[in-house]
Amino acid sequence: MRSYSARSQRRTLSLSRPRGIMAVLFCLCAASLAAAALGPIDTSAPALAGGTVVSAAPPGPFFQDFKPPFPTTGWWVGYAAAPSQNSVVAGPFPYMSSALDTGINFGISNTRTFDGTSIIQTTELDWEASYVENPNTHTSHKATAWDTQTVTVKYFTSSGAGFTTYLVPGSPYMTFNYNAATILLNSKNGNILSINGTTVTATPVKVTGTKFTVTVPGGTYVLYSLGGSISLTATTTAIKGTATFTGVIRLARLTAETTSQAVLDQYSANYPTSVALDYTFAGDSATMSFTWNVVGSAANLLHLSWPHHRKRLVNPTLVAGLSYLGTKGYMKPVQGNVWKLAYALPTIDWLPPRAPQASCTQQIIQALEYEIAHLTVAVPGDFYYWGKAFQATARLALIAEHMGRQDLIPAVVSILEQSFAYWTKTGQTTHAAYETAWGGVVDGAGASDPNIDFGNGYYNDHHFHYGYMLHGAAVIARYDAAWWTANKKTITAFARDIGNPSSADPYFTIARCKDWFAGHSWASGIANGGGSRDQESTGEAINGYYGLILFADILGNQDVKNWARLLWATEVDGAQTYWHLYPNANDPDTPYPEAGLRALTTIGNVMDYQAGAWLFWGAQRSEIAAIQILPVTPINEGLYDTAWLTGVWSYVSGELVDPTVGDEWKAVIEMAYGEISPQTAFARSTNITAWGGTTSQAYLIYHLATRKNSGGGNICTAGLANPAGTFVIRAPNGKLVTSSSAAPQLVANGATGTPFTLAYMPGGGSILNAATNQFVTADPNGAAPLSAARAVASAWETFKIAQQADGTYVIQAAVNSQYATLDSTGELVNNGASLASATKFTLVAS
Ligand SMILES: *[C@@H]1O[C@H](CO)[C@@H](O)[C@H](O)[C@H]1NC(C)=O
Ligand SMILES: *[C@@H]1O[C@H](CO)[C@@H](O)[C@H](O)[C@H]1NC(C)=O
Repeated sequence: MRSYSARSQRRTLSLSRPRGIMAVLFCLCAASLAAAALGPIDTSAPALAGGTVVSAAPPGPFFQDFKPPFPTTGWWVGYAAAPSQNSVVAGPFPYMSSALDTGINFGISNTRTFDGTSIIQTTELDWEASYVENPNTHTSHKATAWDTQTVTVKYFTSSGAGFTTYLVPGSPYMTFNYNAATILLNSKNGNILSINGTTVTATPVKVTGTKFTVTVPGGTYVLYSLGGSISLTATTTAIKGTATFTGVIRLARLTAETTSQAVLDQYSANYPTSVALDYTFAGDSATMSFTWNVVGSAANLLHLSWPHHRKRLVNPTLVAGLSYLGTKGYMKPVQGNVWKLAYALPTIDWLPPRAPQASCTQQIIQALEYEIAHLTVAVPGDFYYWGKAFQATARLALIAEHMGRQDLIPAVVSILEQSFAYWTKTGQTTHAAYETAWGGVVDGAGASDPNIDFGNGYYNDHHFHYGYMLHGAAVIARYDAAWWTANKKTITAFARDIGNPSSADPYFTIARCKDWFAGHSWASGIANGGGSRDQESTGEAINGYYGLILFADILGNQDVKNWARLLWATEVDGAQTYWHLYPNANDPDTPYPEAGLRALTTIGNVMDYQAGAWLFWGAQRSEIAAIQILPVTPINEGLYDTAWLTGVWSYVSGELVDPTVGDEWKAVIEMAYGEISPQTAFARSTNITAWGGTTSQAYLIYHLATRKNSGGGNICTAGLANPAGTFVIRAPNGKLVTSSSAAPQLVANGATGTPFTLAYMPGGGSILNAATNQFVTADPNGAAPLSAARAVASAWETFKIAQQADGTYVIQAAVNSQYATLDSTGELVNNGASLASATKFTLVAS
């Protein structure tokens, strides 16, 4: 969940597979095996009911030499996005940058503040790298190449003079490859103070050599020439070449470490131009590799790592003496152009790996039967809310399967199929379309309006939205093969949109949302000029890749499933590293050295220049935690780590018993807490009467019933069930409660009472006026009297009717947790705050 307004064919060889002769052959050739990333899932044109649409914010001339698909979500999309291609982007880390007509602006943030909620790295652009002959037009710079992490940008004149820069996240150096152009480095953040120790004034200072130190207010940069000796003149505003130059220069900022210059000197001759992503799988382990293409000595590439890299790097050669503090903590150097990062892959797919505990069976079945009997077809008004309902409904079919109630599945599948069918009908207001300017599946109406569907049409939130859809669709396919055959192509388009593995897919960028170097996905697309990136629902991001895992399982393609599992595992690792906070852990690799931030237990939003315990849409602790938790699914037992969960539980403890905090947040936090103590979670959850869009009563109890339960013992205890049957209700004034079609409100004024039928509902029960066949509803404000005025019972028609020691009953409205009292005219009003104030009624079987 996010708010737009607030900003944004080769196959992988498995090491475990070869046997016998194959294994020998494999071993013989293994040493020379090239990187072998996965091929495309599909290459055909997406054919969606909404046809094609064109973005109202197409990319600028940055992509003048290319056709879509283009990346929409990576760190550098601000170089290309409308309206002006001039957004400041955070990256290539440790740098921030913008690609203006006048040159590449860059710098490293020197200022990190903690304001009590967030750490913020203030934007700082120290330099603009350019050349004297630059025509400074919108079309005189462009992308010449990109991959899953890097982009190469060329600034050029009509005669081909200019420079090329390789923007490679993790490089401590900015690298500029000049061609017959005069070097121009404009100071963008105050005057140039000195060059090689000589104070700079308005009168140009001339220096000649292959290495220079330049001091500006933002720090001292070292400037290297790899193209032999160069002559430069420096004034307070700019450094200029004295002649045209062909060759490479590099700049790097020194740090406070006295060794930083020596380290930078040592590795300055070797520069990365691009990177290849690859991965191999062995059973439930993955090794992901980044292999940088290097000019110079590949073995002597110096490249900076974030904390999450250092957790996963296999045998890295760490280099001491240089570090940069950025949004994600300290970047520290690693030597060599190949990084191997080891990840454990999730082993859970459809169902939890243990049977539901018998102590919960009756309550699960009761809720499940009710919920399935009361399902309605969700008509799409968007992807986001529709998707949540679609997935939550789909889980009921899986619960029914696991409970041995196959008889309940067809009704769920039928509802899901009717709901999904809206996406395959033409002429729908809410429709899916293929957007042709960038290349992707979007909410069609949103292609020209970023306020629709959280900016889906501007490529926001696709992994959130399509994960829910893929999940629901995979569940239908599990039970209805004919449906899958008929809908496979449509569903595959959504899978390709967020999970395409290959540049050989002509319609989709690779893994749209994933920032491979940052170690997680971004939710931000091309809105707001493609400026700062953010992600504030790690739960939904992770669920996006879970949907892809289930899709791949239906597809029957183990390679795609492994790829989806890698997307999942890296997302979880990112969430645990950068969103989950561990107050007591101040290891040198914490991303957040600020103890005050870590005490906030959970980050709400990680952006590229700040991270903090806040959300675009809510401020409660429960909300900030819940959006890192939901939707709760079986695979998430690999996400909810004990240390974080323990912290969250205590952090939100006050809110869990606060009636003004929404049950939908409490429900998912309590479900997650089932990893630690399903008994405690169950006891806490007995007050829940609303579950939000991603879960339900049956789902909650079933989830707790399938936890590890390492402490042993029964998980569920018998609930305090409402009485069931048909009754007349006598008030303490001796009168019987009446309600009629003409006067539906409940009032204790009769000599004969109206018969009311009390029945189970999740979270309590319903009260039906058996004479008028209308359900009693409660006013959320507790002002208007209870009234038998609803044909269907849902949240506002839920009551708890609890027997007291003297045999009488109190009636509590779930909608506001208030007890029914009698007003002066005998009307029943749900405004009694305490049990003591509740009116005690007698139920007389009728
Ligand atoms: C500038 O100073 C550095 C030492 O800080 C030295 O290595 C380099 O040769 C000097 N460059 C010139 C042009 O004098
Ligand atoms: C249920 O809610 C009441 C207030 O309505 C509160 O006093 C009680 O502690 C809650 N029980 C649990 C288990 O949270």
